[in-house]
Amino acid sequence: MNAPHHDDTASTTGPEGPDASLHRRGIKSYVLRAGRMTAAQTRGLEEVWPRLGLTLADGRQDLEALFGRQAPRVVEIGFGMGASLIEQAETHPDTDFIGIEVHAPGVGKLLDEADKRGLTNLRVYREDALAVLEQCLPEASLDTLQLFFPDPWPKKKHHKRRIVQPAFVVLVRTRLKPGGTLHMATDWEAYAEWMAGVMDEALGYANTASPETAPYVPRPAFRPLTKFEARGERLGHGVWDLIYRRVD
Ligand SMILES: C[S@@+](CC[C@H](N)C(=O)[O-])C[C@H]1O[C@@H](n2cnc3c(N)ncnc32)[C@H](O)[C@@H]1O
Repeated sequence: MNAPHHDDTASTTGPEGPDASLHRRGIKSYVLRAGRMTAAQTRGLEEVWPRLGLTLADGRQDLEALFGRQAPRVVEIGFGMGASLIEQAETHPDTDFIGIEVHAPGVGKLLDEADKRGLTNLRVYREDALAVLEQCLPEASLDTLQLFFPDPWPKKKHHKRRIVQPAFVVLVRTRLKPGGTLHMATDWEAYAEWMAGVMDEALGYANTASPETAPYVPRPAFRPLTKFEARGERLGHGVWDLIYRRVD
């Protein structure tokens, strides 16, 4: 809180006041858990990685050259075990997808599945998404950036770890094409309210929600229903979707 601005573009304020580049400040929105890898996940990381994996060291990407075509582009941050991203890449072969996740078993699983299904429209970073956005993805290059069920960091003292911060949405906006969308979903009502609060203050975005449901949109059919979410639905838990369009 109340960190000095490092960057004039990060001059919006959110529920906890002014913020600056999260990546440069070193605040992590995740905790790296030690997880045992299955044989399939190891295979993904070892055998499929050379074909579909990307690193910060690759530098700024030319996305048209990377995929060998001009197609709509979607980036998903924090894809977990990748079920939703795999399903989207498979059902939308005419769209190119980039997943970013720090959790090795999830990256391994996604790579293994992508290979088994013969997907050519998917690439993966095993890095902090903030660094990838800042260092690797070109400006105005994305049609959609999706953030599904980010860690809610419920305790007040951990709110600074939430990935959705004023500086984050400023950065995301620079990577979206004009008219491109930021799609967030959460099952944590207080985080949904936080997201709406950050976006209310952000410049250059328009909420796509209708007045009847604003600031939220009904769950879009194109967002795959994960096992986790289906279970939550059965238990009567809520899910909130927020979709904002980049406007100039
Ligand atoms: C609560 S999980 C949700 C996973 C998945 N989207 C789902 O719906 O099942 C949040 C994920 O975001 C990842 N994550 C959090 N911050 C990240 C960051 N800065 N860069 C990349 N991944 C991140 C975590 O490793 C974790 O797997």
